[in-house]
Formats: sequence, structure tokens, C-alpha cells
Amino acid sequence: AIRSKLVAGNWKMHGGTVQNRSLLTAILAETEGLNGTDVAVCVPYPYLPQAQSLLQGTHLSWGAQNLSQHEKGAYTGEVSAAMLVDFSCRYVIVGHSERRALYGEDSHTVALKFKAAQAAGLMPILCIGETLDQREAGITEHIVAEQLDAVTKLMGVNALVKSVLAYEPVWAIGTGKTATPDQAQEVHAFIRSRIAAYSPEVATGLKILYGGSVKANNAAELFARPDIDGGLIGGASLIADEFIAICCAAK
Ligand code: G3H
Repeated sequence: AIRSKLVAGNWKMHGGTVQNRSLLTAILAETEGLNGTDVAVCVPYPYLPQAQSLLQGTHLSWGAQNLSQHEKGAYTGEVSAAMLVDFSCRYVIVGHSERRALYGEDSHTVALKFKAAQAAGLMPILCIGETLDQREAGITEHIVAEQLDAVTKLMGVNALVKSVLAYEPVWAIGTGKTATPDQAQEVHAFIRSRIAAYSPEVATGLKILYGGSVKANNAAELFARPDIDGGLIGGASLIADEFIAICCAAK
């Protein structure tokens, strides 16, 4: 493969210090030296120090699930990029569909968060994807293009070099309805070609993860597609054996 793979867990609002410890210990023990596959966990903010203390110096990276677009200031309840760096995060998810749908984040806000993350040296994992209505209306490509273009217009296409994309069809998230490998590959190829129109080099180097009901029993087939460079894993990232098997499926 041209690109090494990345499997990132998105714990969402799950976890606790006791479960986290056993989950992370199991993942650490079973995912070392996986043919160059990178493994990361994106944990709730309060568990960043725990992730740091358990994972520092290991092959696992950690990160957060959101951040503020602002550097600092009177933004009660918000967390800045610098704070994530303070806990040695490598990644931060931006624009997850749950943030877009439940917290009103539009594509411009997401682009500002992407910018804030990169300015602090974090690797944003930019999530894009269509709803079921949008897919059925035949506007999937239009939607993912709009979400992607918000970032490239603000930052320029070269900013994608230090980022990861995640294509997550909203109808596949937490529903058990995985996109078929063909459906996912089709959109991944579209995304890559859209970037290639500006810069073939950036497009070729960019990791595009698939997210949406990835499980141990469907990961290998998805990850075998040429434009699918790993996964962003929700529910299955909370179950040690499932997550480990998904990591092992990324060869
Ligand atoms: O960020 C992860 C995605 O939302 C996928 O979640 O694997 O539970 O469907 P899921």
C-alpha cells in the first residue's frame, strides 16, 4: 500500500478510570508491531491525563474528540488546542457528525477548529459524511465536497498534509448498518480525486479513514479497498477484543 494505515478509537462519552485502564492495557499488549499500522484512542477530556500516563512512550497515540476554535478566553466549558497539547495529544477529531447535528457546528466552525488544532501542532481528524436523506436524494458528493471545501478554502489544500480525513456516512454511525466496501470506496475515491485536482501529491499522501459500524467481522474487507486507509471506530473501540481485531485487520 502507498499509505500506512491508522485505526483510531472514538470512545465518545463512554469510559471510567477503571474500565479505561483495562481497555488500554489490553490494547497496548496486543497491538504492538502491526505492520506499520498506527493505533490511536480519542478519549473524553477528563481521561487525557490517564491516557498520557498509560501510553506515554508506547506505540499508541491518544487524542481528544473536539476542541475550541478559540485560543483562550472567556469560553466557559471549552477546551483549547494548547490544553490538548499540554497532555501530549497527537490527534483531535473535528467535525464529527454528532457535533454537527447535536451542537450546531457548521462547516465554517469546523474549519476554524481544524485551523486551531493545526496551529497548536495537533493532527486534526476531519469527519465528513452525508445523512440518509442526503444519500437518497443523490447529493452525497455535494455534501462531502462542501464539508471538505470549507477547510481547503480557509487553509489551502496543503494544510491537509498534516491531517487525517474520516468519511463517516451518518446513516452508518452506531446503527449497525455499515456502508458496503464498494459504497465506502466510491466516496473515498471521490474525496481523493477532488483533492488531487488541486494537488496530486497531497491526495496521494492523505489518509482517509472510514467510520460507521466498523466491527471485527467487516474491517478487513473495508480496509482492503485502495482508498480506505483505516478506520474511525466508535462502539467497537470500547471492547478490547473487537478493537484489537480491527487493528489487526489493517495490514
Ligand atoms: O467516530 C466514530 C463513528 O461515529 C462510528 O461510530 O463505530 O459506533 O458506528 P460506530
